Amino acid sequence: MLRDRAKVAVLVSGGGSNLQAMLDAQESGKLKSGQIELVIADRPGAYALERAQKAGVKAFEINRKDAEFEDRVLKAFDEHAIEVVVLAGFLTILSPKFIKHCGKPILNVHPSLIPSFCGAGMYGLKVHEAAVKRGVKLTGATIHLVDAVPDGGPILLQKAVKVQKNDSPESLQRRVMEQAEWVILPKAVEMVCRTMNRERKQRGEASF
Ligand code: GAR
Repeated sequence: MLRDRAKVAVLVSGGGSNLQAMLDAQESGKLKSGQIELVIADRPGAYALERAQKAGVKAFEINRKDAEFEDRVLKAFDEHAIEVVVLAGFLTILSPKFIKHCGKPILNVHPSLIPSFCGAGMYGLKVHEAAVKRGVKLTGATIHLVDAVPDGGPILLQKAVKVQKNDSPESLQRRVMEQAEWVILPKAVEMVCRTMNRERKQRGEASF
């Protein structure tokens, strides 16, 4: 059967609310150029795996402490003919060697307006703690392509969110997710998959 949806793998570490936003977008038809084929967690007990399984998507753990971690992830991509990779709350920094060998677009969601509050060691709640401490009035989320520099690749989409006077890092984190991350991540995945499908058609290639 001829397929016109790019095969997407999602790498996760924790709760998986960004994964859920993509699964919901797929269900509602907002994400129509890509198909989530595979979810891999880098640590045991990641709730994201349950979300994937509930949606009928193949999901398993490959422990980040395994010496073969990156090779096993690349092998899983090959086995499932993955074309696009999404880091959705994925907290392991991938090596330049992995990024080079992967050879597919890798998207990442970061919970700030890059270049603020980003880079190695800046992830999850730490980002919002830094934003509240610095007293910024605007923060937000960024979707970017991954290259060898942590949070340094080309920016695809950004959305700003106002910081409120009485925000705690936790309240800010929640609002940034709701108003920015869950909105722009599915959009960026759709953009990249649509472009990939168009280019494949232009080359006259079918995909099965
Ligand atoms: C999200 O806020 C995501 O932006 C952040 O971790 C959270 C994961 O939530 N990622 C990073 O900080 C990466 N640098 P989720 O597991 O519920 O999607």
